[in-house]
Amino acid sequence: MHHKKQTLGEFIIENQSAFKYSSGELSSLLNSLRLAAKVVNHEVNNAGLVDIIGAVGDTNIQGEDQQKLDVYANEKFIQTLTRRNIVCGIASEEEDDFITINSQDESHQNKYVVLIDPLDGSSNIDVNVSVGTIFSIYRRISPIGTPVKLEDFLQKGSEQVAAGYIVYGTSTMLVYTAGNGVNGFTLNPAIGSFYLSHPNMQFPEYGTIYSVNEGNYIHFPQGIKNYIKYCQEEEGDRPYTSRYIGSLVSDFHRNMIKGGIYLYPQSSKNPNGKLRLLYECNPMAFLAEQANGKASDGFIRIMDIEPNELHQRVPFICGSKHMVEKAEAFMKIT
Ligand code: AHG
Ligand code: MN
Ligand code: MN
Repeated sequence: MHHKKQTLGEFIIENQSAFKYSSGELSSLLNSLRLAAKVVNHEVNNAGLVDIIGAVGDTNIQGEDQQKLDVYANEKFIQTLTRRNIVCGIASEEEDDFITINSQDESHQNKYVVLIDPLDGSSNIDVNVSVGTIFSIYRRISPIGTPVKLEDFLQKGSEQVAAGYIVYGTSTMLVYTAGNGVNGFTLNPAIGSFYLSHPNMQFPEYGTIYSVNEGNYIHFPQGIKNYIKYCQEEEGDRPYTSRYIGSLVSDFHRNMIKGGIYLYPQSSKNPNGKLRLLYECNPMAFLAEQANGKASDGFIRIMDIEPNELHQRVPFICGSKHMVEKAEAFMKIT
């Protein structure tokens, strides 16, 4: 018998009972992300046509050029998440501080916080290369009925209730986990619906792809240099293939499907690496672990790191389990 492909909307509803909290609410939250993803997808696809490419003339809190699409994506996700009575606060890579959201009854009843990297890989926009969006969802820890607090956002990654990304690639996909495996949905642009295309995604335990900005090699710690040399040695299934897009979402997505490792290490220039713990590393770490992969800062599990500020950066090593363990072993020796 031929089964009709399941839509993301159907999947969310059918799987909400597996979720440990009461949760029509989480479903509704995921639905608002799904909606924003479609709107941003439309704009990303049109980027070459409309005059939206290029720096808006502003720099974000990390002093990087902000692209127009970053601003657009940031606005759309915030708008969409604000409209329903579920989210009490949003933190975004593009905002200096977190945003407090009050419920319609004005008594701070909403239970969830969302952290987003609205547009990841933004340097790839004007060259027509895949970009993405990353999201991370927690239950608030401050009491319901009070305004959201910084501590609601500074929770360890292990407390996430859901996380995912959208990759605006040759096709657009939404990939997420609510703690029960990882599933991927592909957008049919003609119909405007996401369909389950990649059920139960898993990192192969071993892989043969390594992804790192090797231009920074000279600044890397000795353990990482040694691991890179190991990847390049002639032995067994090595040398590995080097693939680096420069969009974490896209590099991660490829590695999860094909088997591989992504590294953004600390360097003499950036002692904590570049990637942000809350908007990038934790959500990707949650997805990685749910897909039988691993994520580490070289020494400890990413999701065990106690955050101390919103825009905190950490070294990030993520991907196929045995590859990440090998990189950690090299870090230990030096
Ligand atoms: P963003 O566009 O959100 O600032 O993130 C870019 C990140 C990540 O997606 C990517 O892997 C990495 O920065 C690339 O950095 P380098 O250009 O230093 O390699
Ligand atoms: Mn990013
Ligand atoms: Mn970004």
